[in-house]
Amino acid sequence: DSVIRIAIDGPSGAGKSTIAKAVAARLGIEYVDTGAMYRAVGYKMKREGIGPGEEERLEAALTDTEIDFQNGVICLDGEDVSGRIRTPEISEAASVYSAIPAVREKLVRAQREIGHRRSVVMDGRDIGTNVFPDAQFKFYLTADAEERARRRFLELQEKGGTETMEQVLEDIRQRDYNDTHRELNPLRKAEDAIEVDSTDMSPQEVIDAIYRRIKDGQ
Ligand code: C5P
Repeated sequence: DSVIRIAIDGPSGAGKSTIAKAVAARLGIEYVDTGAMYRAVGYKMKREGIGPGEEERLEAALTDTEIDFQNGVICLDGEDVSGRIRTPEISEAASVYSAIPAVREKLVRAQREIGHRRSVVMDGRDIGTNVFPDAQFKFYLTADAEERARRRFLELQEKGGTETMEQVLEDIRQRDYNDTHRELNPLRKAEDAIEVDSTDMSPQEVIDAIYRRIKDGQ
């Protein structure tokens, strides 16, 4: 079929969303940020006061939850929540709730539906291994934990955050641990994914490298 799927996976703070968004724009196809979907679920459960262990309440709430992208904007139950899901608290919540099978089931199904209909660049943790194991292109984007923490720290500072560099690094390490050790669809490089280590690369260099691989491979 003529639908093209490009998976970009990797740990927190590797720059996946910046890169994936730019690559999608250059190819003229849609960008889907699956992390934002897990963040929206984390945000809702926190707001409703539903703990990760409360299976029945959680499943009932999930049934009533609608997560969707409208013009590239993440919507929770019809409301744009993009401005509320980028806090350290919601990062942590996304990481915790994303380990719950019912949450993954719902979001993976939604992701497959989106990529079934149209060409996408999708970024996340398990896109190349689980959501679209048959994606035409798979990239695994990494960078040293210290470098990822430094980037995230600068980003938070710009937004007026008060976290220290040590806290941000600790947070990144904790999320790396959670994401690689969860039982269901843990973060790992797909065997056929191209690994790109961005530690010493500028965003533009990473975008160019990935774009070139796609153009050469088409
Ligand atoms: O990519 P981002 O940092 O926004 O993702 C937030 C959290 O959502 C991650 O720490 C991870 O636990 C979870 N996630 C996931 N699977 C994905 C994307 C994100 O488990 N495909």
